[in-house]
Amino acid sequence: MTTKKPKSEAPLTLLMPFGEALERFTNVNTRVTELDINTNGHGASPFVKWAGGKRSIINELVNRLPEIFENYYEPCMGGAALFFKIQSRINQAYLSDINLDLAITFAVVKISPEALINKLEQHSLKDSSEYYYKIRAQYELQDPVDIAARFIYLNKTCFNGLYRVNKKGEFNVPRGSSINPNIIQRENILASSQVLQKATIKYHEFDAIKPLPNDFVYFDPPYHPADSTSFTKYTKMDFSEKDQQRLSNFATQLNKTGVKVMLSNSDTPFIRNLYSANIWHIDTIQAPRMVNCKANGRGAVNELLITNYGV
Ligand SMILES: C[S@@+](CC[C@H](N)C(=O)[O-])C[C@H]1O[C@@H](n2cnc3c(N)ncnc32)[C@H](O)[C@@H]1O
Repeated sequence: MTTKKPKSEAPLTLLMPFGEALERFTNVNTRVTELDINTNGHGASPFVKWAGGKRSIINELVNRLPEIFENYYEPCMGGAALFFKIQSRINQAYLSDINLDLAITFAVVKISPEALINKLEQHSLKDSSEYYYKIRAQYELQDPVDIAARFIYLNKTCFNGLYRVNKKGEFNVPRGSSINPNIIQRENILASSQVLQKATIKYHEFDAIKPLPNDFVYFDPPYHPADSTSFTKYTKMDFSEKDQQRLSNFATQLNKTGVKVMLSNSDTPFIRNLYSANIWHIDTIQAPRMVNCKANGRGAVNELLITNYGV
């Protein structure tokens, strides 16, 4: 397995590259899958709560899929809501993200769900406010299963399922107030593992993917801020206007090679300007605003769904 180093920094918690760590881990755990129920992936859904997750507008996305496509790419996967929703239509998927701990968690769900569930059971038994901050402070874990269990435990028990890191890349979201956080999700982890058998999981920048003609790529980047309270930061690096421009250039390049592309973003003049009418179809949809530090900022907002094929 080769590992391409991402171009920009990301929160690193491994002493070795992502690929190498997982390869070593997979070699130790010779049973590639440990599934003990016949779910066939039925009912699998995102196992992390993710800011900007697409569950709430999933039908809008499904209604705009290309009629046919070969492989599926989701290069800003987050919780990968669209992948889970349309998994029965997918032969081979490539899921990637710049968040290393998230990519490790997906890989562990795929490779070793039972070991992960065991650790989640331990976290669930010990869960308390004090325990949360003890686990949150474990920034230097090296075992991928430990990293994945910590990631899911914190995601389920932190404030609003947010993912936020400080300048050193350390997760710093305070504990949330959920009375009954669904930490273990045994059935869903097993079903997700089954579904992820058809996915290659990578840790890299969105423009490191290499889709072929007729492959389908869904880009769901951090949104261009519609106002000063918008959430755009999923790693210690911000997703700047330069990154939005780079994404638009990359998508245009993919369009030239016959790749089918769909993108989500906020409805701002800046984003509309990046996607010219002679290539891109732009639809406006209404989405609930989930992440906002101001309560009065909650409500519906316009978002853009941009495709290079007719829908
Ligand atoms: C809006 S979220 C995606 C949500 C996802 N579609 C879902 O259903 O949960 C944006 C994702 O882009 C990732 N990201 C940010 N910068 C990136 C980059 N330069 N390359 C790849 N992924 C990036 C973030 O880590 C985050 O997971």
